[in-house]
Amino acid sequence: MTASAAGGSPATYDVIGVGYRRVRQPDPRLAAMIHEALAGARTVVNVGAGAGSYEPADAEVIAVDPSQVMLDQHPGHRKTLAGAEELPFGDDSFEAAMAVLTVHHWPDLHRGLSELRRVSRRQVVFTWDPQHLPELWLIEEYLPEIRQLDHARFTSVSEVAEALDAHTVLPFPIPHDFTDGFQVAHWRRPELYLDPVIRQASSSFAALPPSVVEPAIARLRADLASGVWQRRHADLLGRDSMDYGYRLLVAGETDRGHR
Ligand SMILES: C[S@@+](CC[C@H](N)C(=O)[O-])C[C@H]1O[C@@H](n2cnc3c(N)ncnc32)[C@H](O)[C@@H]1O
Repeated sequence: MTASAAGGSPATYDVIGVGYRRVRQPDPRLAAMIHEALAGARTVVNVGAGAGSYEPADAEVIAVDPSQVMLDQHPGHRKTLAGAEELPFGDDSFEAAMAVLTVHHWPDLHRGLSELRRVSRRQVVFTWDPQHLPELWLIEEYLPEIRQLDHARFTSVSEVAEALDAHTVLPFPIPHDFTDGFQVAHWRRPELYLDPVIRQASSSFAALPPSVVEPAIARLRADLASGVWQRRHADLLGRDSMDYGYRLLVAGETDRGHR
């Protein structure tokens, strides 16, 4: 089966997925939150698994992703090339399903979420809320083009929660030294956005043409060199974490078996 025949739109990750693991190191604080939500589940399907970040070590995990480039970076042995919209598993096959930073890539979000509910008894989804404020300074001041892109891709957390019938929605404020290099990760380390390898691991950056990104990054470089950025963001430099709208949603059975 080819990646595109498997459903979804894997092309982005077949291109930007190369080298993904180097920049996208799972963060232990986010891992702890996800593992607590998955506690007690002995069988887990990781949908949009990518390189396998945040999978619990104490469960039997099957990784599902429509990108072969991503699955090739996954260290596990149980891997299935498929999109969330058509999971090749029977009803209630797993005690839990997890989907981390992936639902915004699914061409049919509602179908994917209903597949998660069909194949598992508990669902754990980590995503970003486009309605949340404040937004990252990088978008507000340098690259508003990312806003358009992200608002077109991400669905509000309230709509995802409703589709899942989630009983729990937990905020995850991003620590200042967050290790998983997705777009917002470097909010207190602005110089990291100057590195093209770091930018490439974020699908929003990767989707924008160099003619848009390069002048913006040149402006950031100049503002960092002159101290303009530091003066403008003195408040951020004193913070340990920031709530930028990332949320963990939990639906279905709890680890005690209640729905
Ligand atoms: C940002 S990565 C997240 C990977 C991993 N969950 C993590 O936390 O590192 C998004 C993943 O979603 C996958 N993806 C894209 N379209 C998908 C679809 N229709 N169904 C499931 N996964 C999809 C991509 O191939 C990519 O591996």
